[in-house]
Amino acid sequence: MLSWEELKRECDQCVRCGLCETRHNVVFGVGNERSDILFVGEGPGEQEDLRGEPFVGPAGKLLDDMLSIIDLSRQENCYICNIVKCRPPHNRDPLETEQDACIGYLRNQVALVKPKIIVCLGRIAAKRLIDPDYRITRQHGQWVEKGSFWMTAIYHPSALLRDVTKRPETFDDLLSIREKARQLGLKL
Ligand code: URA
Repeated sequence: MLSWEELKRECDQCVRCGLCETRHNVVFGVGNERSDILFVGEGPGEQEDLRGEPFVGPAGKLLDDMLSIIDLSRQENCYICNIVKCRPPHNRDPLETEQDACIGYLRNQVALVKPKIIVCLGRIAAKRLIDPDYRITRQHGQWVEKGSFWMTAIYHPSALLRDVTKRPETFDDLLSIREKARQLGLKL
């Protein structure tokens, strides 16, 4: 396992998949590196690629609003990263091979943060981290205990921008994250 500094350096120089050819920046992660809650999206979009920070475009603004509902913020008490660290061209879904190439970085981040709760943002992260057959429409908000983590998935903020009818369910899912944190005795 690499330290934060080693891991960031390795990510910055990564050429493990073709996404390195079109990226402007590696989007490593942001937040409190000792958080009890980790959020995992799918991969950087255009704004993220240009700025080198996850969730800074329109979906990111919504994510920040969602976090604030349950007293979380990237500045203080959670950590945010993605399954793949480089932008897939035209925001297509990251390929399985790209996810395979990148997943070791996420595993190392998880080992360093040591979160108690991992929240997948959307289908891609849920399929990769919870269950390959995960159905986000049916299973969002459900909790599974995996090793030393409690895991759940909520709709991706981009999906909530496209379809506002999903927002009330997501509000309930957010409250359930806060409730789980309380049950686990986490100080947020
Ligand atoms: N969507 C994601 O999944 N991740 C980001 O960082 C930005 C948008």
